[in-house]
Amino acid sequence: MTGFKELVFSGVQPTGNLHLGNYLGAIKRFVALQERYDCIYCVVDMHAITAELYQPELKNQIREVTAAFIAAGIDPAKHIIFNQSQVSAHAELAWIFNCVARLGWMNRMTQFKEKAGRDRENASLGLYAYPSLMAADILVYRATHVPVGEDQKQHLELTRDIAQKFNNDFAAPIAERGFGEGFFPLTEPLIGGPAARVMSLRDGSKKMSKSDPSDLSRINLIDDRDAIAQKIRKAKTDPDALPTEEAGLANRPEAENLVGIYAGLSGRTKAEVLAQYGNAQFSAFKAALVDLSVETLGPIGAEMKRLKDDHAYIDGVLAEGSARARVIADETMTAVRDIVGFLRG
Ligand code: AMP
Ligand code: TRP
Repeated sequence: MTGFKELVFSGVQPTGNLHLGNYLGAIKRFVALQERYDCIYCVVDMHAITAELYQPELKNQIREVTAAFIAAGIDPAKHIIFNQSQVSAHAELAWIFNCVARLGWMNRMTQFKEKAGRDRENASLGLYAYPSLMAADILVYRATHVPVGEDQKQHLELTRDIAQKFNNDFAAPIAERGFGEGFFPLTEPLIGGPAARVMSLRDGSKKMSKSDPSDLSRINLIDDRDAIAQKIRKAKTDPDALPTEEAGLANRPEAENLVGIYAGLSGRTKAEVLAQYGNAQFSAFKAALVDLSVETLGPIGAEMKRLKDDHAYIDGVLAEGSARARVIADETMTAVRDIVGFLRG
């Protein structure tokens, strides 16, 4: 789709335990994109209360994600870093999208099914509407590109469906106002690379996740070098040496995961990693992975710890980012209210 200004948007929930999957699947890629695009990176605190309502540490969790963005290398002077709840247009557009999205679409969302679990009657209405708020996050800036991990693919397809239905249903007022081929862009997901889906270190069939009860399953961004080394040494593997070609990783999920992590951290492909480490035993490969992980994650974790306790600085970054975000979001909402037909005196 042409005619839209290129803009990157993405969000991370402040739900604690930021981990290597968040870094490789999302945050590291946010950093790379800032050279080429204008970017808006959001700490989605309104999403954070959909599963667990009262989180006494929420404010500090918001600061921690903000600190991670900055420690990883996002420049808050050039790009926008802010927290969702400070820009009320997200909630307002989400309401309109609740009226655009169909129940049939929402009922297909696999993340809702997983998170709601067996006791679906007891899930919050917010958890159900979560993808509609996510579409609003993106489209209130009319963002064209969204970097995320593999697990968010379905939510981005829904975002495109919502944009398309809005553009179709309001085609007449949109055309009258000169918005050419549609008011909202059909946003492109940016999913990929060797670590779009980092798996648990304890079980290669499960995603690395913030909520896994075993801390050994994930490398947290604030882990120190000893914790990182211990978790990698204890990571589940199989008894064979590493293959020399990528095809040899089929049906070896734990091996594939560790090779993917090495590739993600070093900026290489899995094939390149195997060209170097093919035929190596896991003991040797794990030692190399420990060194690489400590070298790349260590400084980020240390900077994150320092920044997250500097409340004046972090809260200032979020206030300034929110003010800049609000300008763009308000402009979109003025047009959306008019297109929908709400009267403003
Ligand atoms: P969340 O923590 O759910 O807000 O996720 C923040 C970002 O990290 C999203 O772009 C996710 O797709 C990404 N992400 C979360 N877990 C993983 C994982 N295990 N592997 C790769 N990306 C992930
Ligand atoms: N749902 C995303 C996740 O859990 C977080 C998110 C919320 C997001 N709004 C977004 C990601 C908008 C990208 C764009 O990972």
